[in-house]
Amino acid sequence: MTGFQFICRVDEILPGGSRMFNVEGQMVGLFNIDGQFLAVSNECPHAGASLAHGRVAGETVTCRIHHWRFCLRSGRYLDEDKPEFNAKTLTTRVVGDEVQVCVRACPTT
Ligand code: FES
Repeated sequence: MTGFQFICRVDEILPGGSRMFNVEGQMVGLFNIDGQFLAVSNECPHAGASLAHGRVAGETVTCRIHHWRFCLRSGRYLDEDKPEFNAKTLTTRVVGDEVQVCVRACPTT
């Protein structure tokens, strides 16, 4: 058994959109980047604001509170070289019309 969990249907988030979901007690920010779904732990590593409510440009999300920027693909904090502030990325996959995310016990590829 894998750790992938249903998070939403593909058509629930249009390209350029994002939403926050509770998956097994973990808040997940899910982003549709040109049809590809990228997920991060939703709490901003700075002070906990919702990254799903941030401003998205390309694969970068800018937190709405203090404007820190994060790469949605790698989680990297982009404003300084401080890895301790990187966002946690989560693996996603699409199965049929379902978007699934792995929040724990994720299979290795
Ligand atoms: S809470 Fe996100 S930058 Fe401060």
